[in-house]
Amino acid sequence: MKILVTGGLGFIGSHTVVELQNAGYEVVIIDDLSNASEDVLDGIEAITGKRPEFEKLDLRDRNAVSAFFKKYADVSGAIHFAASKAVGESVHKPLLYYENNLSSLVYLLKELTGKASANFIFSSSCTVYGQAEELPITESAPVKPAESPYGNTKQIGEEIIRDTAKVYENFKAIALRYFNPIGAHESVEIGELPLGVPQNLVPFITQTAAGLREELSVFGNDYPTEDGTCVRDYIHVVDLAKAHVKALTRLVESENKSNYEVFNLGTGTGSSVLEVINTFEEVSGVQLPYKIVDRREGDVVAAYADTEHANNELGWKSELTLADALDSAWKWEKKVRGIK
Ligand code: WQD
Repeated sequence: MKILVTGGLGFIGSHTVVELQNAGYEVVIIDDLSNASEDVLDGIEAITGKRPEFEKLDLRDRNAVSAFFKKYADVSGAIHFAASKAVGESVHKPLLYYENNLSSLVYLLKELTGKASANFIFSSSCTVYGQAEELPITESAPVKPAESPYGNTKQIGEEIIRDTAKVYENFKAIALRYFNPIGAHESVEIGELPLGVPQNLVPFITQTAAGLREELSVFGNDYPTEDGTCVRDYIHVVDLAKAHVKALTRLVESENKSNYEVFNLGTGTGSSVLEVINTFEEVSGVQLPYKIVDRREGDVVAAYADTEHANNELGWKSELTLADALDSAWKWEKKVRGIK
């Protein structure tokens, strides 16, 4: 069974391709290489022994998307990661985000709904909940007005898919709302490769420990949490990747209970910024230089998942710990920077 993975050379995409291949799926990747390198194919092949097919393609090019589906008529499903995902950048470049994240989704769906049947997995985000009233966050928590065009593209994307699934009965979809993906594959063949100054906490930590950054700025320690810093649900990217295989297989085997389903993917445990720093220091043995600075606009105080629905329906539960994820992230950073 051949599965299209868009954005398959990216951080979460590449780890998902590995788990798909491990589960016996054939994979073809589309990536525009705007935020990933073709060398990632070597890393995937080094792990699984199988090199995925690859097409460099901009999903905003409707004709190119249509030509792809003619060439790969045997594709029976898609996992859609390809999107611009920098929250801050999206505020300054809204049209880039609406075009790249939404036009490409519509062109993909037009092709998939033209097939006899198609299974679709959408990369969504816990950002749709904003600051949830109740913790842990369940899938029935209200979707809040987005704080950024990036977050809005995830909300609108879910609505586009939901409305499409209502009309095309042979089109089945699942939206996966990720909490905070971190870490790297244990082989150290693939991992996170943020371009420029990392916006996310863990790559900034590992780059600081590797000496690329002077010190980590902790965005506020005056929040109403145990130690005053924000709380997030940090999930190992390999656990997250395995959840995608479970979700796809649920559709392939028609175990879905409706044509559009939503699952939160997290560990169910919240960790504060200071807890992440302390855990990193324990696993790496590196003293991390950091300073407390002002809060970052748009940050929610706390967000962590209620994992009941995914555990019961997907038969999936995260297995790796925060320490495992930070250890793997550090090993990857050292490899990329040539540090022993
Ligand atoms: C985590 C915590 C920061 C950097 C974002 C997107 C979300 C998803 C994951 C794409 C926060 C603090 C961070 C730093 C810090 N992205 N922090 N110093 O904001 O929870 O989620 O990335 O899908 O959609 O919103 O993740 O890693 O940026 O921040 O103190 O240099 O670390 O304030 O509390 P976030 P993050």
